[in-house]
Amino acid sequence: MTDEAAAEEGGKGYLLDNRQAEAGERFAALAELFDPVTFRRLRALGVADGWHCWEVGAGGPSVPGWLAARAGARGRVLATDLDTSWMPKSGAPYEVLRHDVGAEEPPEGPFDLVHARLVLVHVARREAALRAMVRALRPGGWLLVEDADPALQPLACPDEYGPEQRLANRVRRGFRALLAERGARLDFGRTLPRLLRTAGLAEVEADAYFPITSPAGSALEAATVRQIRDRLIEAGLATAEEIQEHLANLATGQLDTTTAPLISAWGRKPSSHDGL
Ligand SMILES: C[S@@+](CC[C@H](N)C(=O)[O-])C[C@H]1O[C@@H](n2cnc3c(N)ncnc32)[C@H](O)[C@@H]1O
Repeated sequence: MTDEAAAEEGGKGYLLDNRQAEAGERFAALAELFDPVTFRRLRALGVADGWHCWEVGAGGPSVPGWLAARAGARGRVLATDLDTSWMPKSGAPYEVLRHDVGAEEPPEGPFDLVHARLVLVHVARREAALRAMVRALRPGGWLLVEDADPALQPLACPDEYGPEQRLANRVRRGFRALLAERGARLDFGRTLPRLLRTAGLAEVEADAYFPITSPAGSALEAATVRQIRDRLIEAGLATAEEIQEHLANLATGQLDTTTAPLISAWGRKPSSHDGL
């Protein structure tokens, strides 16, 4: 079964729905955790004045804002998402468009850069989405895809030395089960270099990053657990008391909580590209 068929079979939609209040907290925490990694890579790829950039599944404003500052008035930045609730309604130095990267044709390009962070892992038709992103590149343009690989490092607390850490890891296991049930592919991050090459990109490289402990890591965990609380309970993956206890443990600031590794993979569309 392809990823897409599997995802559609299990798919019940995006688990971490942007319409819930916790989405804003999650975007802020993701920005604090991962923007430095993303921006370092974007700088290395050469994003500069005049570039045309497509930010796929932007979520919040931090990455399109950074791209727009870098690309300047001569450039163009388009931020798309299935749900643009957390994007500015007007006045941003970039365009905002509601767009489903797995189902719709790519927006009018071509782009010097297409970037998606923590998006494709959730998209049912992720292979089609990747092909659409490659199609939108100009010859010589760069694709940067960053995605989690929760199967590579599945724990909330790798140093499981007491009941608080065991509980955190049990709740994280429940979160992974809900993600998988909705069609998220939990070993997706590691496949990116191969997928980029298969899609015809050259100069493919990849690296990985995850924080071991940080206030933003705890904030992300708390917002995520509050957001999926009812579904964890309904599915019998955790009790209300366990969730309350885990949130209280997080609030002490003493629980070292990590994320899945973020795998960043990038590649360039060859100048003589002959149709994908
Ligand atoms: C985990 S958030 C990541 C947000 C942001 N890229 C970041 O790294 O902070 C995933 C985002 O992908 C969006 N998304 C999920 N499925 C999508 C799809 N099929 N097309 C476009 N965006 C999608 C969600 O609405 C959400 O904003």
